[in-house]
Formats: sequence, structure tokens, C-alpha cells
Amino acid sequence: MRLLLTGASGQLGSYLLRECLSQSIAVVAWSGRRSGESFGYPLRPVDLTDPDAVADAFREAAPSVVLHAAALARASECRAEPRRAEQINVHATARLAELAERAKIPLLHISSDMVFDGGYAPYREGDAVCPLSIYGATKVESERAVLASPRHTVVRLPLLFGPSLTDRPTFFDAQLKALRLCESIGLFYDEWRTPLSYFVASRSLLALADSPPGGVLHMGGPERLSRFEMGQRLAAFLGCGDQAMKAISRTDLPDVEPRPADLALDSSHWRGLYPRQPWPSYEAALAQFHFTEGREHTLT
Ligand SMILES: NC(=O)c1ccc[n+]([C@@H]2O[C@H](COP(=O)([O-])OP(=O)(O)OC[C@H]3O[C@@H](n4cnc5c(N)ncnc54)[C@H](OP(=O)(O)O)[C@@H]3O)[C@@H](O)[C@H]2O)c1
Repeated sequence: MRLLLTGASGQLGSYLLRECLSQSIAVVAWSGRRSGESFGYPLRPVDLTDPDAVADAFREAAPSVVLHAAALARASECRAEPRRAEQINVHATARLAELAERAKIPLLHISSDMVFDGGYAPYREGDAVCPLSIYGATKVESERAVLASPRHTVVRLPLLFGPSLTDRPTFFDAQLKALRLCESIGLFYDEWRTPLSYFVASRSLLALADSPPGGVLHMGGPERLSRFEMGQRLAAFLGCGDQAMKAISRTDLPDVEPRPADLALDSSHWRGLYPRQPWPSYEAALAQFHFTEGREHTLT
């Protein structure tokens, strides 16, 4: 396998590269703006909104499979810059899918549980999409473009958790910091997801990349949890009190977009295809991270 990974400098992309290194997978790693190296792989900045640059870099890469993890991935960023969100998440994805189709190679596109409205969970692959955010809407459009080719696969991921392997902290890092400094952090008690760790997601995606099944797959975690429950269980796992974790409602935030209440994914299709793929509980997934003082955390 010669993997072309977009978004290699992102949170998920870094975990993917780390896993590629441990499996000795040949990777061409594209970033957006960042350069340098990550886990021994040179990062090549390729602006996905520049069609000529993408076509040239694609030809040079000569991949056997594409894992497309680049996106404007935060709902707040998409809301602030809807045109940019459309260019990156929809148009650039469509072009990449077309290049892969022309090269007769499969593309795995990372989508999100945010394509649903949160009113009818748990969601199966065939359920009607109805995004409540611009981010979700761009993901719906990108899925349509990708699914025009039967050789391509859309993987809808849930909320991902774990310490950042980049210089930008994740929400999980913010919880660790709050616990360490006994600072209060607000966590929704009334918004449910089926969270998956970055580590498990990256391993499972690479297993899929080996022979993508086509169509849509839900790759959620085994438990339906609110962020507040996740915070409480993280505190208990680390042997800390959970006083820092403050239960808040998703309706408390002065947000211009409504937040879906329940985005639990039914992942039985994926589990049926890959029954041996590890699917750890929240605590078992936490145990795959190694928390140390000083550097805060590293992976085992
Ligand atoms: N994190 C989650 O909980 C979650 C949940 C469900 C689905 N997802 C999906 O998973 C994927 C990865 O998310 P993430 O959390 O890893 O996002 P992230 O940390 O924000 O990373 C985004 C990546 O996209 C790249 N990128 C942005 N604009 C680009 C452009 N114009 N051209 C080329 N590359 C560009 C960035 O490159 P630079 O930083 O180098 O500019 C970065 O590598 C996304 O599709 C996201 O929607 C994430």
C-alpha cells in the first residue's frame, strides 16, 4: 500500500502517521500550511483549494489509496468562514475524489456524526441526514461528491478524544489541564455521542484503507456518553476528584447554531465487517494513553 494522507498535520492525521510508522506503511503526507516532519514522514504543504497544485502533487505521489483527513474541521471556523468551509470541505474533496477515480484507486473520506440532527439516534448508515450546522452541511455535500464513485468509502466518525500529538491542544487536553490546576471546565450533560479515541480510530481507519468496502460506514465507539460523563470518568480513571467538571447544558452556550442532542452512531455494519478490530470501553481506551508528569502525556 502506498498511502496518500491529507490532513497529516492535524490531530487525527498525527495519530495516523504515528500508526503508519509502527506498521511501516509507505506514506505521502500532505499538510495544509505546516511543514517539517511528523513521525519521520516529511510533511508536504499542498493547498487543497488550488486545483493545479493538487493535480501536480497527486501525480507525483502516485498513491494506491487516499485517506482524506484534511478539512476545516471545527464548527465555529465553518460558521465564521462558510465560503472557505465550502471550498475546503466540499469542492476540494470532490476534486480529490475525481482524481482518485481517474487513477482507479479508492479514496476513504472522513465525515462526521454531525451530518445528523440529533433527534433520532442511534443512527444507521441509511438514515436521513439533516445537519444543523454549516460544518455538518459541508460534510453532507462532500459525502455526495465522494459517493459518486462506488470504489470510494465515506467513514462517519464520532467525537474523537485523546491527547494531542501536535502543538495544538485538544479538548481532552483542556480537561487534563482543568483537573491538574483544579480549574472549572464546563461539560455538556445533555449532548450524547459515541466517542472513539484517536488511537483506536487511526488503527481502524488504516485497517479499512487496506481494502475499503465502498459506501458509507459508521465508526463509532462502543458507549453512548455525554461529555460530562466522559469528564467524570476521566477524573475517576486518573484518581482525581471531579470538582473541576461542571455540568452545563448544550443550550447554555450563546451559539448561533443549535447543537444536536444525541448523535450516537450505530456501528454494527463496521463491527460486522471487522469483528476482530479492538473496540475498547472508555476506560480501556484511556489506558492506552500513558499520562506522565512534566510532559503531561505520551502514548504507550
Ligand atoms: N476531531 C474530531 O472529533 C472529529 C470528529 C468527527 C470527524 N472528524 C473529521 O476528521 C478529520 C480530521 O479532523 P482533525 O480533528 O484532525 O482536524 P484538524 O486537527 O483541524 O486538522 C485539519 C487538517 O486539515 C488540513 N487543512 C486545512 N485546510 C487545508 C487546505 N486548504 N489544504 C490542505 N489541507 C488543509 C490542516 O493542515 P494545516 O494545519 O497544516 O494547515 C490539518 O492537517 C476531518 O475531516 C474532521 O471533519 C473529526
